[in-house]
Amino acid sequence: MTAIIEQFAHFTPSCLYIYIQFVDKPNGLTMHSPNHLLELFQRYREDNRFLQPPNELYAPIDYILDIGGKRIRPLLVLMACNLFKEEVEPALPAAYAVEIFHNFTLLHDDIMDNAPLRRGQPSVHVRYNTNTGILSGDVMLIYAYDYLLRVKESREGASTELLRLFNKSAIEVCEGQQLDMNFECRSDVQIPEYLRMIELKTAALLSGALCMGGSIGGASRADVDRLDLFGRKLGIAFQLQDDILDTFGDPEKFGKKVGGDIVQNKKTYLLLKAMEKADAPSLARLHELMEDGQLSDGEKVAAVTEIYNRFGVREEAQELQQLYTDEAYAALEAIEVASERKSGLKQMTSMLLGREY
Ligand code: IPE
Ligand code: IPE
Ligand code: MG
Ligand code: MG
Ligand code: MG
Repeated sequence: MTAIIEQFAHFTPSCLYIYIQFVDKPNGLTMHSPNHLLELFQRYREDNRFLQPPNELYAPIDYILDIGGKRIRPLLVLMACNLFKEEVEPALPAAYAVEIFHNFTLLHDDIMDNAPLRRGQPSVHVRYNTNTGILSGDVMLIYAYDYLLRVKESREGASTELLRLFNKSAIEVCEGQQLDMNFECRSDVQIPEYLRMIELKTAALLSGALCMGGSIGGASRADVDRLDLFGRKLGIAFQLQDDILDTFGDPEKFGKKVGGDIVQNKKTYLLLKAMEKADAPSLARLHELMEDGQLSDGEKVAAVTEIYNRFGVREEAQELQQLYTDEAYAALEAIEVASERKSGLKQMTSMLLGREY
């Protein structure tokens, strides 16, 4: 497993390949390797580029989709479908819809977070401009629905269920984003509030991807609910890792501006834990740093990181992340398909925990 994680960490976002053994036909159904699923997805994406005019609207979409991304969400759609069904092709438009939606949220998120870098390249609003980031983002949201429409209905009511699942997570993402911004201006955020915020802004889409894939694959209502729980636990662990990387990541690998959360006064687990554990002078200093508009970004990041290090908050975040990962495995275990069919999702869970970007 360690070897797999090391290999995974080596790849740049644009050429993510997951080395998981191909498991043939557990339960009599062909199971596709994540690598194969990724190839199917990339081929579908190549056949569905945004080449139409006006170029000013669509070129930024191909730009953001071409500069990388781990493609976790479309893989989750396809893997969840493949838990229950041999053919995953029917799920490809939904996988693309989810990836387009995710990238739309990134365009707007980078404007909201004042983030100059994405996947090691200039963010869309920097490469083009803010209006482009807004409008290309808007049309991506519409195209997400357009691709959802292309999923063929395999049974009565399937399209409505798919739309409901998508809408639920898309609404939750917006709610989470609003809480994330509200928290920037508050200094009394509690850890349970933070956990709810990341469940909404991040975990909801991971679980939405899984539920949509499961639904297309013909999962029972109970198994869709189990996929939802798995995605929520996985997503919280995933966002905790994102918070850790935002402060402690290797800038070369991370692809985003390291320290961005500190500059923006984001109420990450690291900050909330530091506020909980800090002695009185360090706590006062943290408040001062958050309010001080005179410091350069670099000075602020260095000073806050020093306090994080002093109070061991990185380790605390890793422990909590491990806890949520364990809960994710347990939720996955409960899904009523043969255990071998879950090996791809299990390994993906463990790799996300060790990811460096
Ligand atoms: C970034 O998601 C936004 C978060 C929810 C942390 P990813 O880390 O999946 O971003 P890409 O698509 O791989 O770049
Ligand atoms: C991700 O939150 C949530 C969404 C994009 C919806 P972040 O703001 O932490 O994501 P990154 O770090 O910019 O990718
Ligand atoms: Mg951001
Ligand atoms: Mg954000
Ligand atoms: Mg982040």
